Amino acid sequence: MIEIPHIVAHRGASIEAPENTIAAFRVAGARQAKWIECDVTLSADNQCVLIHDDTLERTTNGTGPIHMQPLSVLRELDAGSWFSDIYKGERIPTLSDTLETLFFMDMGANLEIKPSGCDPVRLCQEVAKELGRAKKLPILLSSFDDNAVAEIRRLLPDMPCGWLLETLPVNWHEEYTKLGASALHIDHKALDPGKAAEIVAANVPLVCYTVNDPDRARELFGWGVTSVITDDPAKMIAAIPRHPNPQGRNK
Ligand code: G3P
Ligand code: MG
Repeated sequence: MIEIPHIVAHRGASIEAPENTIAAFRVAGARQAKWIECDVTLSADNQCVLIHDDTLERTTNGTGPIHMQPLSVLRELDAGSWFSDIYKGERIPTLSDTLETLFFMDMGANLEIKPSGCDPVRLCQEVAKELGRAKKLPILLSSFDDNAVAEIRRLLPDMPCGWLLETLPVNWHEEYTKLGASALHIDHKALDPGKAAEIVAANVPLVCYTVNDPDRARELFGWGVTSVITDDPAKMIAAIPRHPNPQGRNK
């Protein structure tokens, strides 16, 4: 298992720059984040692009479902003005642009497979192709979609893949083992010290999203959490420069 840094920048430094853009990844790097988290889906012509929502309205000047538009259309959209005029003209990045940028910044990524209306298996296949072509950097895949986790395990058996959850099922360990996942990613609000202890005792790396309060992050690290995903890496890294609990560090 690769080492997951204790702080990961959610959609880049999304408090300071438009989420899931190269600008947000560069700001994250400038704030000393070692990794970013980002969301990958498919365009209508099966190109891997980074965007969180199913539709274009919230974070671009486009409209409608992402998976209905070819890359040539998506690339013309403004993915920055909604956030601030400073970022006017920022584009929806491809996965390939992103991997190239991260490589040159010596960063890694938690790449969340987000089908958003496209076929999860096809998405995994295209992501696997892109990762095969890209220069090597630390990558942890993850998905809420069980079919995607299973497909990633099949296509990329040597690449770690986290199982993303909103809440912890009672039989989580059985499901986790069946899926062959390599980490458990969960909404921090769904966690309590007992559940965290159960996961830590099973030697499962535990990643929590989305944590923007350093005091809450300290509490989670105290429970044995490996890593927190935050919109505000600058604040979090300033408050907690190193993992405070050796038990929570994965190696
Ligand atoms: O990967 C952690 C987190 O990003 C999952 O939720 O909706 O922000 O993609 P969401
Ligand atoms: Mg995400």
